[in-house]
Amino acid sequence: MSRHRISLKVNGLRHEVDVEANKTLLQLLRDDLELTGTKLACERGDCGLCTVLIDGMPVKSCLVLAVEVDGHEVTTIEGISGEELNSVQKAFIKHGAVQCGFCTPAFILTATALLKRNPKPTEEEVKEAIGGILCRCTGYRQIIDAVLDAAKER
Ligand code: FES
Ligand code: FES
Repeated sequence: MSRHRISLKVNGLRHEVDVEANKTLLQLLRDDLELTGTKLACERGDCGLCTVLIDGMPVKSCLVLAVEVDGHEVTTIEGISGEELNSVQKAFIKHGAVQCGFCTPAFILTATALLKRNPKPTEEEVKEAIGGILCRCTGYRQIIDAVLDAAKER
């Protein structure tokens, strides 16, 4: 398998790495950079649990090859906030929108990106934004309420 040197920023840090041509961004993040907040589940684009931000937009990292992010900027859950939790994270706690937590990084990243480009989304817009992410625990109501509540802070 051929290898390629790529350069990308992850959570603000520049990385130069050699990757196999068939390595996914999900594998690069979890296996090479040890950023395990990005979850591995279906690995075929069905569940959305591997969502990260590429240049600020939510993307399923199991469907992206590492070589495709050469020159781009990736944000994972480890880099979404500073010392303090961001408003979406705080709202998830307030609304009990986290149960097992396996889906939570994907929702937090997706909602944070949504509020950045659309600070006052309607409920329908929130549903549309998070529509590609599966949660087996909360039933979604608390997640939607948390995102709408975080929007009030803006
Ligand atoms: S692990 Fe990527 S969509 Fe399920
Ligand atoms: S909180 Fe468990 S899958 Fe969503």
